[in-house]
Amino acid sequence: MALLRIRTYPDRVLREKSGDISNITGDLQRLMDDMVETMYAAPGVGLAAPQVGVSKNLLVIDVNSREEKQKYPLITLVNPVIVAAEGISEEEEGCLSLPDFKSVVERASKVFVKGFDREGKPVEIEAGGLLAIALQHEIDHLRGKLILDKASPLKRSLYKKRIFKKGRTE
Ligand code: NI
Repeated sequence: MALLRIRTYPDRVLREKSGDISNITGDLQRLMDDMVETMYAAPGVGLAAPQVGVSKNLLVIDVNSREEKQKYPLITLVNPVIVAAEGISEEEEGCLSLPDFKSVVERASKVFVKGFDREGKPVEIEAGGLLAIALQHEIDHLRGKLILDKASPLKRSLYKKRIFKKGRTE
């Protein structure tokens, strides 16, 4: 296994819309395992493929370090889709692609997600709490969306200023 480089804002790959995976190959499973290792090393509770430069509908999540007794310890999800959502939750979120940025984000408090696991078997996940938030956050990444977009214009421009001062370009 190998640690992958986590892409950070304003890397353009974070803005691309990911494509569905039609075939689970050995290479793809290696990517999944590397993403898991990279997530744990960061450390983070979730990672989406675009964050390691791959525009594919794939994510990994493990919220166990933050919330114990989860029904789903480690989730590897291919082509995830939110099929139902309910309630409202507002929690502060961070993102491995947005160093030093935190923002309160409004999300559904419960989600029902369908997708496929590491072996290509269909899975259904009913989630609340941090897992529900993590699923919505990572699925946003697959659509090219970041929590930065959900922050207030003031907060957004302050963060951009800080990032561009460091000499990066969009
Ligand atoms: Ni993120």
